[in-house]
Amino acid sequence: MSNDRISALRKAVEANPDDVLLRLVLAETLVAAGETEPALDQYVVLLDQQALPEDQLVAVGELAAANGRLALLRSCLEAARQAGIVEGTGRLQQLVDEMISTRTGVKVKIGQPDGEEFVSDAPKETTTFDQVGGMDEIKRIIHRMVILPLSRPELYQKYGRRSGGGVMLYGPPGCGKTLLARATAGECGLPFVNVRIEDVMDPYLGVSERNLHAAFERARANSPCVLFLDELDALAFARHKHGGSEARRLVDVLLQELDAIGSENEGLLVLAATNAPWDVDEAMLRPGRFDRVIFVPPPDEPARVDILSVVLKDVPSAGLDLKSLAATTAMFSGADLRALVERGVDHVIDEALATGGEPPLSMQHLERALPGVKPSTLDWLHRVRSYIEFANQSERYDDAAAYLRSKDVRRRLS
Ligand SMILES: Nc1ncnc2c1ncn2[C@@H]1O[C@H](COP(=O)(O)OP(=O)(O)OP(=O)(O)O)[C@@H](O)[C@H]1O
Ligand SMILES: [Mg+2]
Repeated sequence: MSNDRISALRKAVEANPDDVLLRLVLAETLVAAGETEPALDQYVVLLDQQALPEDQLVAVGELAAANGRLALLRSCLEAARQAGIVEGTGRLQQLVDEMISTRTGVKVKIGQPDGEEFVSDAPKETTTFDQVGGMDEIKRIIHRMVILPLSRPELYQKYGRRSGGGVMLYGPPGCGKTLLARATAGECGLPFVNVRIEDVMDPYLGVSERNLHAAFERARANSPCVLFLDELDALAFARHKHGGSEARRLVDVLLQELDAIGSENEGLLVLAATNAPWDVDEAMLRPGRFDRVIFVPPPDEPARVDILSVVLKDVPSAGLDLKSLAATTAMFSGADLRALVERGVDHVIDEALATGGEPPLSMQHLERALPGVKPSTLDWLHRVRSYIEFANQSERYDDAAAYLRSKDVRRRLS
């Protein structure tokens, strides 16, 4: 059975991570089995190792393009360029351009930067706060900061309360920052324009700035909408200040765009997320820009119950004790909880295949899955403790500091 072959290959690759041939066979076997995403992950490693054979670059690039993996597609392009494969480079460049133009609404024309057109193409977001487990306090804050000023502007005018300005979410990975931003758009009934770092960053001079500007133009074409800047630290990296003028320009473009929103009131709500707020350029955090900073912690126990019930909503199950599951999954992120349920479902499927029945997901399945999923927030929390203790603007991170000081968390981190 190909599943056995795949897991045997996987084990072999794990044991010999530098064996290129083995990894290639694994990647090809995954493709043949229709496991495209895991296959692409293997190709990412191969490209990192500069070990993907030249004659496969175009095929892998095409697969990446078909699956929305722009970063991988770009790596293929870069490798083709370095290898001097003219035809392949042309084809891959074409795929990159197509992908950028469908994502940003920008028609990229090489050597013709003015040929840009923007269309109102973003649908209204349908994710709502119901689909975000826990985070009651954060939802309340967002309601007051973002949703209310939009739905009841007269209230804010009457009391001279300034609305506008962006909200920056920060915290460990997988705890729902992106999901929450999306749901904020959904709660407002607005489109969600997601600007991802791989859509912006480009090694070619001036292209990143153009991509970033294009993303704002696309948001304007779709306004009113929520514009979401993911991985703000990478876009507005503080150390750019000390770097060359090229790197600085991206920060400047972002500042200009944000200030334009403030003055023109264009119906753009700007949200951003980061795992490393201390790497974000200070200028980004001044009033009218990202002046509201919210910590998104790992979910506490009641929040984990809530997230589990969200994640399990469409899974046939029987006799699940969510409370006891939540109690045994301290420091799990929302993403970890989802991974746990997915692994549990894998066991259900194995059982269904073996017995021919259609068993519901039970505690047994989840308990078997549990040892395989580790909380992914701990690394982050360990890493940031010193940042927060020694950050010179520590009051900005007060809520994270308080979280780290709490007895339960200290115990888990020691
Ligand atoms: N509170 C939550 N409720 C329901 N699902 C959640 C929650 N938090 C995380 N998840 C699940 O985990 C996935 C990853 O979460 P998300 O991408 O929002 O995390 P993030 O904080 O943006 O992480 P990163 O810092 O890595 O970008 C979500 O798509 C969702 O399936
Ligand atoms: Mg995210």
